[in-house]
Amino acid sequence: MGKVTIDTIGKYDNQDVTVCGWLTHKRSSGRIRFLVLRDGTGTIQATCIKGETDNQVLDLYQELTQESSLAVTGTVHRDKRAPGGYEILVSSIEVLQIAETYPIAPKEHGVGFLMDHRHLWLRSSRQHAILRVRHAVINAARNFFDDQGFTLLDAPILTPSSCEGTTTLFEIDYFGDKKAFLSQSGQLYMEAGAMAFGKVYCFGPTFRAEKSKTRRHLTEFWMIEPEIAFADLETVMKLAEGLVVAIIEEVLQTRKEELHQLGRDLTRLEQVRPPFPVVSYDEAVQIVQDAGESMPWGEDFGGAHETIVSNHFDKPVLIHRYPAETKAFYMKNDPDRPEVALCVDMLAPEGYGEIIGGGQREDDPALLGQKIEKAELPAEDFAWYLDVRRYGSVPHAGFGLGIERTVGWICGLEHVRESIPFPRLLDRLYP
Ligand code: 4AD
Ligand code: MG
Repeated sequence: MGKVTIDTIGKYDNQDVTVCGWLTHKRSSGRIRFLVLRDGTGTIQATCIKGETDNQVLDLYQELTQESSLAVTGTVHRDKRAPGGYEILVSSIEVLQIAETYPIAPKEHGVGFLMDHRHLWLRSSRQHAILRVRHAVINAARNFFDDQGFTLLDAPILTPSSCEGTTTLFEIDYFGDKKAFLSQSGQLYMEAGAMAFGKVYCFGPTFRAEKSKTRRHLTEFWMIEPEIAFADLETVMKLAEGLVVAIIEEVLQTRKEELHQLGRDLTRLEQVRPPFPVVSYDEAVQIVQDAGESMPWGEDFGGAHETIVSNHFDKPVLIHRYPAETKAFYMKNDPDRPEVALCVDMLAPEGYGEIIGGGQREDDPALLGQKIEKAELPAEDFAWYLDVRRYGSVPHAGFGLGIERTVGWICGLEHVRESIPFPRLLDRLYP
């Protein structure tokens, strides 16, 4: 047998294989020398025995440092005591590189130090587990939409205008004579796409020049955004619930081991079954006030308020019909109650805050024109967006789910910075 990966090692009991990887640590006990090897698919113990293993290999053992890159050849041996149930009885080792002294030692390091070494920190088992959960979350979300006939439509990253408010725009000089902005959301383009394809979604990085230093805010984050023609608020509330249920199911099915490793309380995730509680903004304000907090009707919830509301339920909660004044310009007002918008936020349980925002869009060209004007947005940049309402306007709705906050909640992380490979924060652009 030739080169194999550690995750498939069980198939090669009693056979000779080669595993390529990095040394995570080594230890010796009596006549035995253990090398613990990591290859990205798992870890395995490679065992050398004095008197049985070639002396050259035993000499090499002395030289090997943490993170040295190796190709280890030997016989796969089933052993209940070995972590993972298998070990390799080493016959030869090819050293690709003896690593320099590795900066991340098994001792405790501060977050700043680890973030400065994020390119190496990714190799640690905890980060590995989190990012494997992230992969499953993304996979589940994409499959969810693909299976329901949505077309993936990629939105541009360089945009001429704002979508989610002008105060959080990253500005770029676009060849001197024009400004461009990094996209805050693909939504406006998805609205055009929905009129062409019916059901669409985009999935990509989005940017917010947020001056907030909270555990929920990144300046670059990934969002999956579905948009549907001939749809209303109710439709997308159900869709949002279905998406989150599908994500949790997939993660519980494929990443239980990683969640265990992260010390996540699985019972909390297993509770995430439909139907989710649904409350109006008015009712949510009441919950906050009943908890003894002062919160006047008309304001948006702060982080602390969101925690109060989400702690009220053991599942994600959908809050609909916020005061229109607190929300973005493109939202449609409730015809029965024009002071509120036909919008919805989903708050994750356990104080993880808003993971989804969306709703029904203004489909009347005249009203939308007024909203653009009121928001003091440059009319010329939104001419195309009004066109979407001028040629066969229909009710339509959609939402955006933030990947990092969702991963942060599912993994039980203290801060979203660990839920993305290379986080971008107010004070972090390196590595
Ligand atoms: O509520 P938001 O701003 O909604 C939109 O951008 C809509 N245009 C989406 C749509 O309807 N197509 O953002 C949606 C989600 C939030 O619920 C949150 O999960 C995430 O994106 N998000 C952030 N995640 C990390 N860091 C930030 N600074 C985030 N801002 C929003
Ligand atoms: Mg929002």
